[in-house]
Amino acid sequence: NESGWEILPITPNTGAEVRGAKLTGELSEEELAGLRDALAKHKVLFFRGQGHLDDEGQEALAALLGQPFAHPTVPVKDGSGYILELDSHHGGRADQWHTDVTFVDAYPSASILRSVVVPEAGGDTIWANTVAAYESLSQELKGLAERLWALHSNDFDYAVAAERKGVPLEEERNYRQVFASTVYETEHPLVRVLPDTGEKALLLGSFAKRILNASSSASGHLLQLFQEHIVRLNHTVRWRWAEGDVVIWDNRATQHVAVNDYGGQHRVVRRVTLAGDVPVSVQG
Ligand code: SIN
Repeated sequence: NESGWEILPITPNTGAEVRGAKLTGELSEEELAGLRDALAKHKVLFFRGQGHLDDEGQEALAALLGQPFAHPTVPVKDGSGYILELDSHHGGRADQWHTDVTFVDAYPSASILRSVVVPEAGGDTIWANTVAAYESLSQELKGLAERLWALHSNDFDYAVAAERKGVPLEEERNYRQVFASTVYETEHPLVRVLPDTGEKALLLGSFAKRILNASSSASGHLLQLFQEHIVRLNHTVRWRWAEGDVVIWDNRATQHVAVNDYGGQHRVVRRVTLAGDVPVSVQG
């Protein structure tokens, strides 16, 4: 594209590897435009070999792409302005499908994730394209989804933690306590219209706790129906990390999960999110 970078799609609808790029806080106009175009098209962009990027560089890149947004509850990494560190030895395992920070009204528009310590095997991240998921629904289910709203919250269900395998529970609990130290709640439409492209995206994930105006049983079934549809394999892309990789995703058009298959191995990633807008429903 205009940047001179090579954009190699990984699946037909989701994810592309970008070759020939050196990410910094000083990209050219052409590179910036190329990055934005590729992100709108592929939703998740993968860059190998960005080991030159330190915390400061990652924050500078974020500031170039948008307005960096600090996590509402988890303190930023020492010495940084916006970096959220997820360290598997301190309970930082993002192992449930989610879109980042949907428990606030204007949740992040994009996220930039950098790998710092990679397990010898395992710890891949998988993204699901929520626009492709909306588009592959039947007309009837699109119509239903367009009328539904969900309550999103960061309140944590401790019973879920108890069921997970290979995770030091104490650390997981401590991390979750910080994560939910202030409880946020908001309501979002199940289908949001993306501001730039007009595409429609399904909006759920693990912070979506219940469907509004539905019985608890119906709410459970509806959440399961649409969430399982979103993460069908045809909508996903999976990434095997190497140290120094950077991934940038459109957080309005994706969900993701870090596969928790690496037991006690060490895994560290650092994330900066960009400020977003309040989702607009199909009704406006
Ligand atoms: C995240 O949920 O932002 C982090 C995903 C990961 O650890 O791969």
